[in-house]
Amino acid sequence: MPDPRADLRSKFHVNNRYSNFGPALDSVKICGFRGIADLTVQFQFPITAISGLNGAGKSTVGQLCLGAYRKPTTVTDTRRFYVRDFFPASAADPTPFGPTSSVVFEYNTTDPNNPQTLTVARAAKEWSGYKRQPERSCYYIGFTIYIPKVEQRDLSIYRGAQVALGPQRPIPQDVRQRVGRILGQQYDALHFQGITHGQRHGELGIAQRFGAQYSENNMGFGEGRTLYLVDLMENSPVQSLFVIEEPETSLHGNAQHELAKYLLDVCNRRHHQIVLTTHSSSILDTLPTEARVMLLRDQAGVSAFPMMSAARAKSILSGGHHRDLCVLVEDQFARLLLTEMVRRIDPTLLRCVEIHHVGDKKAVRSGALLMQRIARPYAAVRDADVGPDPTNGIFSFPGNMPPEKQVYLTPDVQSHLLEKFGVDVLHAFAQRETTNHHDFTKVLAQETDTLPDYLATIAIESYLDSIGVDEFAPLVQAIQARLPQ
Ligand SMILES: Nc1ncnc2c1ncn2[C@@H]1O[C@H](COP(=O)(O)OP(=O)(O)OP(=O)(O)O)[C@@H](O)[C@H]1O
Ligand SMILES: [Mg+2]
Repeated sequence: MPDPRADLRSKFHVNNRYSNFGPALDSVKICGFRGIADLTVQFQFPITAISGLNGAGKSTVGQLCLGAYRKPTTVTDTRRFYVRDFFPASAADPTPFGPTSSVVFEYNTTDPNNPQTLTVARAAKEWSGYKRQPERSCYYIGFTIYIPKVEQRDLSIYRGAQVALGPQRPIPQDVRQRVGRILGQQYDALHFQGITHGQRHGELGIAQRFGAQYSENNMGFGEGRTLYLVDLMENSPVQSLFVIEEPETSLHGNAQHELAKYLLDVCNRRHHQIVLTTHSSSILDTLPTEARVMLLRDQAGVSAFPMMSAARAKSILSGGHHRDLCVLVEDQFARLLLTEMVRRIDPTLLRCVEIHHVGDKKAVRSGALLMQRIARPYAAVRDADVGPDPTNGIFSFPGNMPPEKQVYLTPDVQSHLLEKFGVDVLHAFAQRETTNHHDFTKVLAQETDTLPDYLATIAIESYLDSIGVDEFAPLVQAIQARLPQ
């Protein structure tokens, strides 16, 4: 299956966003809810995965997004959400919000330079500002939206002996295959069975597998929840908004990864917008960097760090316990390059630094701001095409192109690789139509039956010989200077 991430990226580009996703949410600004004083979350991809420690404010963001739309007049089977649905105030909970609390929604419109902005705010005793909102079907997949019927004591359980079977609702083959792919198991058949008892009606998922038939009442929880979710996402109107709480709930590791792939696929086909909360590294790793936002709550309030995941931040922070300085770079190639630069100038410095690759230039910047916020020593190195920002501890690799291009397009490197591995670099790129520099190492490693990190390091050594130490000494010195005294 082709990777839908690139498609989604281009479909969600500001110039194409409205035609594909309609009045999607561009951002939400939250002031005065559950200790969130002033927080803006930008939606840079059709799926936004919010991670962070327990209590960071993830669900608060998702729940407030649901209050952004009116229910389409043509739709009868969904409800609209209001702020009051999620923020009950009582004697036990006097201040989930205050008299000046507000949510500012920014919606995408036909004019990318002119988004629509609307504010829902506390006016006297009610919330106001809902009227001029755009229309959209909204779904909240919370923790209790799918409870196994056995636990609900649903009518199919407590009236089990007396229920009559009603009409069946077939589940198309593609939906069956999607559910099966997520769970790593294939069904022989899958449908919904209507059931009635007096005036009451219900529906039960029925599966056939390994020659046996069983209903939702005997399904695994992950199985039932996945069937419920996929059925809803396939049958809701296109361009719906889904807010999903911890979709990893009750799924094994690979199923979490497959579920994230499904979410990318369904957004690509049906142009939904998804805001999800998660603690799952499998889900975060499957989504592209611009789909991630990490929330951090501390004395100063709650802040958002786009492009970061809590899992990535945790690995950086736990690394920081052992090393004095955390250095953030974009990708593995940058990590190898910086390691060899440091080794040539100050090998002992390698003992004191922990080099992490965090994704791309925006993730490097976001990670640097996170380190600043939590007062951890750090340095960050971006590719040369963006330039340095030394006041924020962000430096650049030498040259003016991404490091893969700097390295593999250097004639000395090309001669060295030809001599050592017998590979003609430019010919190999042309042969395989390789224009994306992120693929350079992979292509050459395949051509030469070599491990990618080994090949990259050989090329990097030759590159450093060629440009000479004066070219990269300033970068290494800038990192040395960031070491805590
Ligand atoms: N009245 C209040 N004033 C200040 N802070 C509050 C108030 N009510 C709740 N909070 C904060 O909000 C948090 C709950 O927010 P939310 O449910 O959005 O967190 P979450 O990130 O979804 O957490 P989890 O991962 O556990 O689901 C509480 O842990 C608390 O820190
Ligand atoms: Mg939550």
